[in-house]
Amino acid sequence: MTTIANLELLETYYEVISRKLLDKFSMGYTKETNSGVFVPSSLNIIHQAFIHLIDTGVIDKNKPFLDAGCGDGRIVALASSLGIPAWGLESDEELVALAKHNLINLKALGVIKESAAIIHRGNFCDDKSYTNMDHQFSDFGTIYNYDNNAGLLASKIAKEAKPKTVYLLYSGDEIKEEFRGLVFMYDLDLVSNSINTSAALEIPQGFVRVYAKE
Ligand SMILES: C[S@@+](CC[C@H](N)C(=O)[O-])C[C@H]1O[C@@H](n2cnc3c(N)ncnc32)[C@H](O)[C@@H]1O
Repeated sequence: MTTIANLELLETYYEVISRKLLDKFSMGYTKETNSGVFVPSSLNIIHQAFIHLIDTGVIDKNKPFLDAGCGDGRIVALASSLGIPAWGLESDEELVALAKHNLINLKALGVIKESAAIIHRGNFCDDKSYTNMDHQFSDFGTIYNYDNNAGLLASKIAKEAKPKTVYLLYSGDEIKEEFRGLVFMYDLDLVSNSINTSAALEIPQGFVRVYAKE
């Protein structure tokens, strides 16, 4: 189980990184990519969600986790720090390099330990991306997305994932989406209680919607 100290280290690490990169990215710590928009998730909110979902048996820690569109790698790092083997796929070359660099630093800091934390470049809708990772899309037990091509990903899960695969969709939007072939279980309406004042455009309140493949 991740200690609060680990979460604080993770939050502080990404806070420092995002402040450092504010000038490099022209729109603040956010970026328009060729497939969507990079805006980071709130680590605090997603940590709360993961703890709840692990405790209630919705996330099976033994099954691989995928962050589809992993940006700077923070959710891969968070999942791995909780003992879940985690992979991230990202289409943007600059973000892939940043995410890999972050995971190396977080291993050195001891936030990431023995659980996998691996980043690959690729389109999460494309099967070739999974071959390059030595995985199949159907290997993943939990798939996470922060509001980027979420409908395309939902269709892929409905068609190709194993039954009971969990789809976690993070969103600031109050309106919940329905996806054919996926059952909506519930959503968590969460507020960040981070002590950090964030330089990134993380939303302080968000919904983590839980869907499952039928
Ligand atoms: C809102 S950001 C979320 C980043 C990270 N998952 C997080 O929660 O902090 C969405 C990311 O998904 C990437 N993305 C969107 N569509 C993609 C696709 N089809 N394949 C790979 N990456 C994609 C974007 O480039 C962007 O970096």
